[in-house]
Amino acid sequence: MLSVITLAVAFATLFSTTIAHCKPPNSHTFPNLIYKGTQYPDYTYIRRTWNYQNYYPIFDVTSPVLRCFTDGTVPNPGTLTVSAGDTVGFTVSGRIVHEGPLLFYMARAGFRQTAAGMTGSGEVWFKINETRPEITDVPAKIELYKWPHYNASEVYIQIPPCIPSGDYLLRVEHIALHIAFDEGQHEFFGSCAQLRVINGGSGVPTPYTQFPGAYQSDEPGLFLDVHRPWVLPEQYEVPGPPVWTC
Ligand SMILES: *[C@@H]1O[C@H](CO)[C@@H](O)[C@H](O)[C@H]1NC(C)=O
Ligand SMILES: *[C@@H]1O[C@H](CO)[C@@H](O)[C@H](O)[C@H]1NC(C)=O
Repeated sequence: MLSVITLAVAFATLFSTTIAHCKPPNSHTFPNLIYKGTQYPDYTYIRRTWNYQNYYPIFDVTSPVLRCFTDGTVPNPGTLTVSAGDTVGFTVSGRIVHEGPLLFYMARAGFRQTAAGMTGSGEVWFKINETRPEITDVPAKIELYKWPHYNASEVYIQIPPCIPSGDYLLRVEHIALHIAFDEGQHEFFGSCAQLRVINGGSGVPTPYTQFPGAYQSDEPGLFLDVHRPWVLPEQYEVPGPPVWTC
């Protein structure tokens, strides 16, 4: 009997280990929203992404999935009320383990639309933050370049203090560039949170872009070799439009 139990435990251990290893170690998702110290359960205020189980990246810059990383197979979640100027976070399941920028975009719901009802299609997205590589000593090898949020298990963004009140999608995105020496091998990961912003201001976001459409597969920020001394960090061209600030 003991040996049967031991065997069962051994199998259970083997099984859970196998499951854990099914997640590609270099891939990830952004499943939880964090606000005022609370981390909400998976996909509570975040649209469940197509890769919520396999953690795979999107490669295709022309794919509509790039919009919110969803496949439309589940209803949209609830919407969290936040104040303009507050900081919200996303957990990173699997950590950010590759070179590449982290970007945040927002899109406002149209007239009589809600965050849950909007598709995010069209030229509705504006960028509110982006990261670029950092370096303290030059010249230096590319291996010494540091990407903000490298190895992060949580990432945070401030909702612009002057943004008008209303319903929004907040889109987080990490672009992994470690194999981007081959055209098309940029890897996109991300998700969209649904937010109702209150206490907003009268800022006018600009410029707008759309997904797909914001990126070109052969643009310099997406088709490069991060393992060679390609450019000085400050010359890295982050994909997408410039950041809008208040
Ligand atoms: C972008 O985020 C960083 C922190 O990750 C922050 O230091 C910076 O001020 C932000 N930029 C804007 C325009 O909000
Ligand atoms: C990533 O962070 C974890 C937890 O802080 C740490 O144990 C690990 O060494 C870090 N990995 C790298 C590559 O920095």
